[in-house]
Amino acid sequence: MPGAGAIVIREGRAEDAPWLAAIHRRARQAAMPGLREVHDEADVAGWIATTLMRAHRVMVAEQGGMPVGYIGFGRDARHGPMVLHLYLAPDHRGQGIGALLLKAAADALGPQLSLYCIARNAGALRFYRRQGFRVVACSDGAGTEEGEPDLLLSRDALSTECNDREDSP
Ligand SMILES: CC(C)(COP(=O)(O)OP(=O)(O)OC[C@H]1O[C@@H](n2cnc3c(N)ncnc32)[C@H](O)[C@@H]1OP(=O)(O)O)[C@@H](O)C(=O)NCCC(=O)NCCS
Repeated sequence: MPGAGAIVIREGRAEDAPWLAAIHRRARQAAMPGLREVHDEADVAGWIATTLMRAHRVMVAEQGGMPVGYIGFGRDARHGPMVLHLYLAPDHRGQGIGALLLKAAADALGPQLSLYCIARNAGALRFYRRQGFRVVACSDGAGTEEGEPDLLLSRDALSTECNDREDSP
């Protein structure tokens, strides 16, 4: 339940995977109704427990002992440090938890991060812009599982540390 205790950010564990897969599905459908999902929750849980947690890293936001959101991040051969997943349970949006999880990724990888976002996900795009990200590329999404136009966003070290200062050029 929202507001039921402090938010704790901790390392993800394999047993979290089914909870995180359920959050993944609910978050995506709430933000982008009708989004094409080619993997069921069990497949997503398996991928989170193996690939995302073993080859990359997962941090979980927990409230009252229950996961309410998570971020998956790591280094990508093409784009460098990347956020791979960032999802909150729908009733936990709008409370600053997304920023806490993004900070956990930046603490581990540095502020210079990239990520993909589906173009119609206007709320997430506003969140990323507030966090200093800018669109650096776009595609029609023809090669993606969702088949929807998507955007590549990046944040460089300067945009988070200097550009918001009043004396910045
Ligand atoms: C994107 C996300 C991680 C941002 O975290 P957050 O802590 O909610 O960040 P914000 O409070 O800045 O909210 C971001 C946007 O989410 C939406 N949102 C926030 N609270 C909401 C609520 N209670 N009801 C509906 N939408 C809400 C709004 O569009 C908001 O943008 P706005 O304030 O400019 O309107 C989180 O909202 C989320 O998990 N969204 C669904 C999944 C998603 O889109 N993930 C990103 C995939 S690239």
